Amino acid sequence: MTENNRADVLLGLQWGDEGKGKIVDVLTPHYKMVARFQGGPNAGHSLAFEDKKYILHTIPSGIFHPGCLNVVGNGVVVDPYIFSNEMDQLNLPLEKLKESLFICSKAHLILPSHRLLDAAFELKKGKLKIGSTLKGIGPAYTDKVARSGIRIADASAPDFRQKYDTLKAEHFSLATSLGCKVEELRLDGLSFDAYEKAWFKGLDRLLAIPQVQSELFVNEALDKGARVLAEGAQGTLLDIDFGSYPFVTSSNTIAAGACIGLGLAPSRIGEVFGVFKAYCTRVGSGPFPTELHGDDGDHIRKMGNEYGSTTGRPRRCGWLDLPALKYAVMINGVSRLIMTKADVLNDLESIKVCVAYEIDGEQKNIMPPACNLQNAKPVYKEIKGWQNDLDQIDTFEQLPPALLEYVSLIEEYIGITVDIISLGPDRKQTLFRKGAGILERLSKKF
Ligand code: IMP
Repeated sequence: MTENNRADVLLGLQWGDEGKGKIVDVLTPHYKMVARFQGGPNAGHSLAFEDKKYILHTIPSGIFHPGCLNVVGNGVVVDPYIFSNEMDQLNLPLEKLKESLFICSKAHLILPSHRLLDAAFELKKGKLKIGSTLKGIGPAYTDKVARSGIRIADASAPDFRQKYDTLKAEHFSLATSLGCKVEELRLDGLSFDAYEKAWFKGLDRLLAIPQVQSELFVNEALDKGARVLAEGAQGTLLDIDFGSYPFVTSSNTIAAGACIGLGLAPSRIGEVFGVFKAYCTRVGSGPFPTELHGDDGDHIRKMGNEYGSTTGRPRRCGWLDLPALKYAVMINGVSRLIMTKADVLNDLESIKVCVAYEIDGEQKNIMPPACNLQNAKPVYKEIKGWQNDLDQIDTFEQLPPALLEYVSLIEEYIGITVDIISLGPDRKQTLFRKGAGILERLSKKF
C-alpha cells in the first residue's frame, strides 16, 4: 500500500476543546475530503476567519473550503434540529451544499426523546452526574448498541413514524419513571413539543443532503488518490473505553474510532495528528489531577476564553499534564504533535508542568487507570514564563526562549516533536516547524 491511499486522522489528546476545528481548517486546503467519525452535536468546533466566528457541531470543519468534500460518517449521531441550524449558519444555497456535504445513511438519529433521557439519567445520578452536554449522545449510542436505534436511512422508510413513536413511548416511560418532568424540560430553550416539531422540519432538510455509505465513499476516494482527513471530536481522555470512565462520552474518540466510524481498515490510516493545549481544561465532572482552583486557573479561563462552545459552561482549567499526554500519544499512535493556545500563558511569571503522579507513595510517569486517578497527586516541574506578547511572531524560530524551553520539555518527555504551534484563533496564527516536512508532505502530488 502506498502513502497516497491512507487517511490522516486529527484528534484531541486531552478532554476535548483542544482547538481541533481551527487546525482542521488550516490543514483542509491540502485535503480533498474531511470526514467526521464519531460524536455528534456535543462537539463545538470553533473556526475564525475574515473577522467572523463559526461554531460547527456536526458538519465537518472542511465545509468552508471550496472543493472540499465533507462526510458525516456512520459513527456519528445526528440531531436534525441542530444539523439544520448549522446548515443555516453556513449561508450556502442548498444546491451548493449538496455538492460538498454527504451523510452516511447508517449514521444514527438523535431523537428529541434521547435528550429527554439524557436529562433523566443525569437527574438520577445526582452528585455523581457526568456533566453531559445533554444533547442526547449517550442515549442515542445506547439505542444503537441495543439494536433499537433509528438510522438516517430509516427516516425515509414507510414505517418510520411508527418506529419513531414506539421508541419515543419507551423513552418517555423510562424518563418519567426516573422522575423527569417533561413539561418542565427545555431543549435549547424550547418545550418538548416545540422542539419535536422543529426536529421534524430539520429532518426534512437533512434528508435533502446526499446520503452515502461512508465506507465505500471514503475508500473509493482514497483509491482514486484523494487525500482524506478524519476529524475527531471531544478528546482521548473522554473515550468510552480509555477515558476516565464513567466520566466520558459515549463513543471511541481515539484514532481507532476513525476505522469504525468511517469503515476504514487500520492499514489505511496514515498520519495521526494529535492536538493538545499548552495547558489542560475539562468541562463536566470527573478526575482532573492538575486542576487549578485559585487565581492561575481563573486567569487561564479568562485569557483562554475557556467557556464551552456548545453549552457556555465555564471550563475547569489546570496545568499541562504530561503523564496523561504520554498515554494519549501511545493509545493513538500520534505521529505529529500540535500545540495550541500557548499565547494564553503569555502573562504568567512561572508555569508548572506535571511530570509524574504520586500514587500511594509511588511515582508514575504515564497516566494510571482512571480508577486510581482520584488519588493521583501531581509532581510538578516549574519553568519561567516567557511574559511576551506573541502577536508579531511568524516563525517557530522567533518564539521566546522560555517558550522554546517549554516545547523542548514536552518533546523530551513524550519522545516526538511538536510540529505545529497555534498562537491564536485565526488561520494566520499558525506556525509550522521548519524541517518537520508537514507542508511539504501535504503539498506533494500523487
Ligand atoms: P456527553 O457526550 O454530552 O454525554 O458528555 C459527556 C462528557 O463529555 C461531559 O463531561 C461533557 O462535558 C464532555 N464533552 C462532550 N463533548 C465534549 C466536547 O466536545 N468538548 C469537551 N467536552 C465534551
